Amino acid sequence: MVKKCLFPAAGYGTRFLPATKATPKEMLPVLTKPLIQYGVEEALEADIKTMAIITGRGKRAIEDHFDISYELEHQIKDTPKEHMLNEIRQLISQCTFSYTRQVEMKGLGHAILTGETLIGNEPFAVILADDLCTNQNDSVLKQMIDVYDKYQCSIIAIEEIDIKESDKYGVIAGKLVDGTDNTYRVSDMVEKPDPEDAPSNMAIIGRYILTPDIFDILRDTQPGKNDEVQITDALLTQATAGKVIAYKFNGKRFDCGSVDGFVEATNYFYQKLKG
Ligand code: G1P
Repeated sequence: MVKKCLFPAAGYGTRFLPATKATPKEMLPVLTKPLIQYGVEEALEADIKTMAIITGRGKRAIEDHFDISYELEHQIKDTPKEHMLNEIRQLISQCTFSYTRQVEMKGLGHAILTGETLIGNEPFAVILADDLCTNQNDSVLKQMIDVYDKYQCSIIAIEEIDIKESDKYGVIAGKLVDGTDNTYRVSDMVEKPDPEDAPSNMAIIGRYILTPDIFDILRDTQPGKNDEVQITDALLTQATAGKVIAYKFNGKRFDCGSVDGFVEATNYFYQKLKG
């Protein structure tokens, strides 16, 4: 069973400067909710209640967000605004949050390895909060857990992209699993290839279910693209042994790590709100 979800949240968010100079990028709001709260809600929808967050310097606001603010509670008690805290209060009461700091920024693989002490020896989910996912029915992570239950190996979420964008993503090659139209057995994975080197147009998005052997593999994984330890490279070791499934999910995903994607997400949720 997958009981824990890891949120790598130590990055600098330089694409959103100056907004992210003193505010974690994970706290940027789409409408009134910070990005990381959407991620935590998605995990909870998948019945995961233990949130493990990898933070870094300047990320205190994330811890404060998932905590009670007594002063604020006192200020708005019995006012018409009190209901605005209901959602986050409920979330806090249903989940536990633990934190560890990534001291040096050595890549996503390194961030995930930093989470080992919070995860231990069990399969776990990973959500990159700047990929904001939404679906009318089962959340993307919930869908992936169903896939994990069937295959019992690492699962990555993929989506088809314009091949010109391949250098922004991990890109996979794989063969459809017999009898399915959305599940691939992965044979190759490359981190941010140029279009001419991309093995396909199927890109990894920020949702993973990882088996705990990934930690030992990460320890042995040398820095790759951009001189960072890449989770894509560690997963390739598992894929070579036939142990990675890529799942083309149902739903929409917004790249909130870019200004364009962030505006798109904001418009989408605003339209939804206004009905
Ligand atoms: C990371 C991963 C990449 C993946 C992407 C999804 O890259 O390294 O393989 O495709 O997330 O958002 P980042 O966007 O952190 O550079």
